[in-house]
Amino acid sequence: MERIYIKDLSEHIDKEVTIKGWIDVRRDQGKMIFFDFRDMSGKMQGVVLPNATEALAVGEKVRPEWVVEVKGKVNKRPDNAVQKDKLNGEIELEILEITVLNEAQTPAFDIEGDGKEINEEVRLRDRYIDLRRERMQKNIRNRHEITHFVRDFYKKEGFAEIETPNLTKATPEGARDYVVPSRLEQGKFYALPQSPQQYKQLLMTAGFEKYFQFARCFRDEDTRGDRQPEFTQIDMEMSFVEQEDVIAINEKMLIELVKTLYPEKQIQETPFPRITYKEAMEKYGSDRPDLRKDKNNPDELAFCWVIDFPMFEKTDSGEWTFTHNPFSSPQPAHILNLMNGEKIEDILASQYDIVLNGSEIGGGSIRSHKPEILTKVFETMGYATEKIKENFGHILKAFSSGTPPHGGIAFGFDRLVMLLQNEPNIREVIAFAKTGEGKDLMMDAPAEVGQKQLDELGIKILKDNK
Ligand code: AMO
Repeated sequence: MERIYIKDLSEHIDKEVTIKGWIDVRRDQGKMIFFDFRDMSGKMQGVVLPNATEALAVGEKVRPEWVVEVKGKVNKRPDNAVQKDKLNGEIELEILEITVLNEAQTPAFDIEGDGKEINEEVRLRDRYIDLRRERMQKNIRNRHEITHFVRDFYKKEGFAEIETPNLTKATPEGARDYVVPSRLEQGKFYALPQSPQQYKQLLMTAGFEKYFQFARCFRDEDTRGDRQPEFTQIDMEMSFVEQEDVIAINEKMLIELVKTLYPEKQIQETPFPRITYKEAMEKYGSDRPDLRKDKNNPDELAFCWVIDFPMFEKTDSGEWTFTHNPFSSPQPAHILNLMNGEKIEDILASQYDIVLNGSEIGGGSIRSHKPEILTKVFETMGYATEKIKENFGHILKAFSSGTPPHGGIAFGFDRLVMLLQNEPNIREVIAFAKTGEGKDLMMDAPAEVGQKQLDELGIKILKDNK
């Protein structure tokens, strides 16, 4: 018999149906056994009546989380037993036959509640069970809805989604790289991208003009609630634009996203307020100010743009380094100072961050698309000509072969979903998240590899470092 999804059962009153799913709850009342069944579409109650002897025998044996196929008749509940406002509250399945498709050991923790009281390491170790809870199903499914909305939005605006490599070369984005040893060229390493920054700029050189991508980024940095070693960006870049153009289209995307998928939420102020870096630091002591008027209201969204960041800052050892991204252009009025090496500390970058409820959810800039400006940025930071050539020769060459003015932004997608789903950290919106120590407890990664693999890669592990 064709399988019916639980959410559709009310269309089959008085008919015999087959459902497939998990046993959510089992209540044995001696002569009768009540069950709640669960599939991807919802839950419903079923009962094995005393006369269904075969079903009763199986019903006595099955336990929560077992996977079953159930044949039964959909009955309307008597008026006094109707549970209004509940999916399938007006019907009940009279169970005629239960077939066990897979048994289940008793889970290490409860999946009934929101699970926040359970030790997170335990949840992450058996993540496939934790993900069965309603809250996690919602988080992951709503994440999918947002993905779909965003893809659609950029596509309609003429952007093409283009994938860029994950095996690439180290780039300077401020964090440590994850490296991957090469087998064919022993002693050499790929780096996993901290972001697709250089590739997206090269796509502008390549004439795509409007690019976006759901990009996986990898950064070996200390993880916190809003940081993971691998995370997802909504990454975009466009040609022949200025700061206002990038801000306008992305602000439109966020507003439409909230209106469409989270209509219960209020955006505190549109157009999003803008605040300079200087003002933010003076007034709020932070470059990601939380501008919510009422911080207790979970449906209040206070977006703001932070602009006019300094281009350079001094390192501990007294050299200049970039504050955000070496590829950001100085603001047009400050380019002359850069070229003349004057008032370096006053040079402002055409960098913009976007903040939501005190969380930095994105950042971007208009880029230096002329090789002499980018070279000057590297020289200001004290990079030797050789180093510039070695690390950035490819991009300087591209910028000498017809690169349009361009700029873009990347959103921390996990953070955006976290805030929209009212979750306290990004692990709650990532299906298979890592711990604060960067471990995947379910797969037990990172892990040692066999000697043969090490030999092939020409890698020797120093015992002392273990
Ligand atoms: P940036 O480094 O600011 O910019 O990253 C963009 C956004 O990504 C999010 N983010 C993270 N989310 C989770 N875990 C992390 N470890 C993590 N690190 C960053 C933040 C951040 O605002 N290439 C530039 C973008 C550009 O200029 O277009 C970039 O990567 O929300």
